[in-house]
Amino acid sequence: HLNPSPNLQMEENWVLRGENCRAKGGSPGFKVAILGASGGIGQPLAMLMKMNPLVSVLHLYDVANTPGVTADISHMDTSAVVRGFLGPQQLENALVGMDLIIIPAGVPRKPGMTRDDLFNINAGIVKTLCEGITKFCPNAIVNLISNPVNSTVPIAAEVFKRAGTFDPKRLLGVTMLDVVRANTFVAEVLGRDPKEVDVPVVGGHAGVTILPLLSQVKPPCSFTAKEIDQLTDRIQNGGTEVVEAKAGAGSATLSMAYAAVKFADACLRGLRGDSGIVECAFVASQVTELPFFASKVRLGRTGAEEVFSLGPLNEYERAGLEKAKKELAASIEKGVSFVRK
Ligand code: NAI
Repeated sequence: HLNPSPNLQMEENWVLRGENCRAKGGSPGFKVAILGASGGIGQPLAMLMKMNPLVSVLHLYDVANTPGVTADISHMDTSAVVRGFLGPQQLENALVGMDLIIIPAGVPRKPGMTRDDLFNINAGIVKTLCEGITKFCPNAIVNLISNPVNSTVPIAAEVFKRAGTFDPKRLLGVTMLDVVRANTFVAEVLGRDPKEVDVPVVGGHAGVTILPLLSQVKPPCSFTAKEIDQLTDRIQNGGTEVVEAKAGAGSATLSMAYAAVKFADACLRGLRGDSGIVECAFVASQVTELPFFASKVRLGRTGAEEVFSLGPLNEYERAGLEKAKKELAASIEKGVSFVRK
């Protein structure tokens, strides 16, 4: 790998220290790889994961620019050891031994594009990376960020099924940015600190498939019909708000890196055995008749150990659910048939 440390022995000692500590039941020191680590999301995500005390080893993989990003991040005086990997020949070493794989590899949206417009490029990238995972770290938890998530998660599942390594608990599509946005926008309306607000967002991760459950906001509160319309619309189109403001320079990266780390940290706390870790994610599901759906899941030592049902929906949300399911079904089918073809 691209070893940023001039003293390999020193680096190996560091890693060993982490592993010993974990064996003794101390700080667990998980090994995390980011695939697509040089990108707009990948770089701030790498920085934030280097700051996470649960991470002992951080592997940064990309097809471009990992030497620079790795050298840069490796100078941060936090304990995680950082290693860089460049190009497909180094994918194996990037993946072996990892506990958690985070995938933000792929192209982002430009103004006028939907997430589905990214399908042709990103589907192939996700398929290739997931084939690597089946060979080199089939037991790792996978956090999939690359869009369209509604199709890339079914693609990953199909690749894993073909290889006989599919465990639905270990494959999670990251929809945390929708939750983060919903918390922020709802807190704004309520005049509260976003930290105190919890909005479940279910369905999927594109347009009308993003379904905020405003009737289930905690702390309990009520909205006017106009507020519900405006909030729902803003949460569903938050991504487009950023794409348009960036005017061709990409989509959300900083808030996405924040959301990805919030989600990855929850996965790592689950792996460590913490109890009561519940977050929304797009997973294999029996909550509706669709094979994949985003809802609250309980994260534990083996991944998404429990998928929660949607709870009571009001009429507005039931209508939204029907719309969401229609679009989701098509996106899921598109992902599945991409691999089967
Ligand atoms: P970017 O273009 O800045 O970065 C993508 C990175 O992926 C680049 O460094 C590129 O070299 C790398 N890459 C391309 N092919 C690769 C391969 N085969 N293996 C490894 N790395 C590869 O894009 P950005 O802004 O970081 O977005 C990445 C993805 O995340 C996009 O698909 C975007 O739509 C998605 N996204 C998802 C969100 C979510 O909520 N789930 C929110 C925002 C973006």
